[in-house]
Amino acid sequence: MTSNADPTVEPKKPALIPTKICCIGAGYVGGPTMAMIAKQCPEIPVMVVDLNQARIDRWNSDNLPVYEPGLQEVVEAARGRNLFFSSDVESAIRQSNMIFISVNTPTKTTGVGAGRAANLEFVEKCARTIAQCSEGHKIVVEKSTLPVRTAEAVKRILRSSSSGASFDVLSNPEFLAEGTAVNDLLNPDRVLIGGESSAAIDTLVRVYQRWIPRDKILTTNLWSSELSKLTANAFLAQRVSSINAISALCEVTGADVDEVAKAIGTDSRIGPKFLKASVGFGGSCFQKDILNLVYLCEHFGLSEVAAYWEQVVRMNDYQKKRFSTRIVRTMFHTVSDKQISVLGFAFKKDTNDTRESAAIYICRDLLEEGARLVIYDPRVSKDQIQSDLLKSFQDAKGEISNRHKQLVENNVTTVSDAYQASDGAHALVVLTEWDEFTKLDMQRVYLQMHRPAFVFDGRNVLNAKALSEIGFEVHGIGRSYRHSN
Ligand code: NAD
Ligand code: UGA
Repeated sequence: MTSNADPTVEPKKPALIPTKICCIGAGYVGGPTMAMIAKQCPEIPVMVVDLNQARIDRWNSDNLPVYEPGLQEVVEAARGRNLFFSSDVESAIRQSNMIFISVNTPTKTTGVGAGRAANLEFVEKCARTIAQCSEGHKIVVEKSTLPVRTAEAVKRILRSSSSGASFDVLSNPEFLAEGTAVNDLLNPDRVLIGGESSAAIDTLVRVYQRWIPRDKILTTNLWSSELSKLTANAFLAQRVSSINAISALCEVTGADVDEVAKAIGTDSRIGPKFLKASVGFGGSCFQKDILNLVYLCEHFGLSEVAAYWEQVVRMNDYQKKRFSTRIVRTMFHTVSDKQISVLGFAFKKDTNDTRESAAIYICRDLLEEGARLVIYDPRVSKDQIQSDLLKSFQDAKGEISNRHKQLVENNVTTVSDAYQASDGAHALVVLTEWDEFTKLDMQRVYLQMHRPAFVFDGRNVLNAKALSEIGFEVHGIGRSYRHSN
């Protein structure tokens, strides 16, 4: 038999199914993502490792460190079968032939690029540990969100391995959103895999293909994949800042931002998603990823491009500040010694995550004005709220004045339900759109509050008309308030 193969084309190496997967970083991405892979691929052992022993202990308990609807069931389906959580990072690397890096990549706080560039210290440490502990061939997968061309640095570090190990590096950014992570992982819009070796790409494609249709798995070069992640977050955040910018105009003109959003969102070129005006976007990623993009643009001399994207973050800061200022102005220019009931502290509903939550900044501003805050969030602990508020008062040196420490200690109370929070309040401030806030008996809330009973709905989730009929004075985002008298 004669072969038709073109001798000038390098024969394609066969793709392998990984025999063992390890993921470094058991956070909001590493934990849920690996739990889903383990659930869908029962024959592949998946080890999730983290230096934070307390976090690992919680992954091994019934009290998972991440609250996500449906996550407990996914974890329980695989944990102990082919899903394992451990703090023995080196052993897990040695045993695996595919290693995901899913560690945090926060904004740098000191040194070159402080306040903008991503801190890649943890990613670099992972690459060094992998280089030290590896033998044979390993596929290293960047799951963390990284600046474009990070894979170059990762490859150079891996090449320093003294054991003669070889590596392929892939970029496989994660697009899940918190609060909907399980569904996002189960039915993603797409999975993105960037790389140079088609065999390595195929190996990872085969993992995802176990439950995701092949046409939803996009493959690109490494740099397109890295850059697409930053770009996706920048576009999403830009939409929120755009509608929030319009909300300011609505408030002074009598237009209603939700009506405007609906009117523009029905244009199929614009689409209805991500047009909900709010008190400002939060979360660990939007701001850090845009600042990272800004830093990259500046690094490459693209100052106009950098300024364009930076405005998305500035608009978000403006939106948060505008909201706290509006509360103070509306309440006769002082909230000093007034009780303000804060409903919601997480950065969005259905998560216990408070990173960069708009609530932190609104509460900080109100505390500076001397307000007494009574805070309720269904999923965020008292310790987390206290710690976030304390940190919000850190100065450039990371120090917190005694006055601010006392403010947090004396003026912040955390309670376990919304009625308790509103008892004796001068104002009710909704900062997270938890479903339960829309089901409150507002007549009961009204009877417990001082008059005028102010409501500031930072998420436009309450029925403003019904509340006004009860007697509340309601201020929403992107709606002008007209006094009836
Ligand atoms: P996270 O802070 O929740 O988790 C990161 C974990 O990595 C921590 O538990 C930390 O202890 C661990 N870690 C750090 N260095 C380590 C090391 N050398 N060895 C072992 N463990 C180490 O972060 P996250 O929210 O899961 O985000 C991880 C990455 O994914 C970030 O780059 C983020 O931008 C990206 N991302 C996050 C989300 C999200 O919804 N949170 C979504 C998409 C992408
Ligand atoms: C976001 C992206 O949606 C994910 O695709 C991405 O993977 C992730 O960032 C990441 O890289 O970390 P997440 O931050 O978890 O996910 O949640 P979003 O639903 O995007 O909400 C972000 C913030 O924007 C929240 O504070 C939310 O309340 C706010 N938001 C969102 C609005 O104010 N209005 C909207 O219309 C949508």
